Amino acid sequence: MDHVSPWATAPNLPSTHYVDNRIYTDPVIFEEEREKILAATWRLVCHESELPEPGDYRAKEIAGVPVVILRSEDRSIMAFFNVCPHRGARLVRDERGNAKKGLQCLYHLWTFALDGKCTSITRSKGYDGCSLKKTTLDCALSERKSSAAWCSFA
Ligand code: FES
Repeated sequence: MDHVSPWATAPNLPSTHYVDNRIYTDPVIFEEEREKILAATWRLVCHESELPEPGDYRAKEIAGVPVVILRSEDRSIMAFFNVCPHRGARLVRDERGNAKKGLQCLYHLWTFALDGKCTSITRSKGYDGCSLKKTTLDCALSERKSSAAWCSFA
């Protein structure tokens, strides 16, 4: 359902005011800001020195979306949605840590390598249509510039 943006018409402000106070309190404006600005632009997620070793990770929310940023085996920095592709459980629960052995979902113990590929589906015969080859973590975009790691969904 479409909503009418609070920005569709100019606010009726007294001549002494320059800012509409609704930008600080209106949840509709906040959601629109999340969608059109925070989720659509590159976000600084960490300094690469925070991820010195393969498997080091930081978990964050960007525009309300959980992401995990990690140092992979080839020393690149990857960003994934912090969501298990099986049933959507959160993969990483700590704000930071090391997952050198891979990311393992707590629910059904599916395991993912640091490049996002699924390496283990426990009791796979019970999951019709799921295969290691077809199952990967969903990537967010990541970029490294001047030792800073950035993430985007755009
Ligand atoms: S929800 Fe992650 S393995 Fe089932």
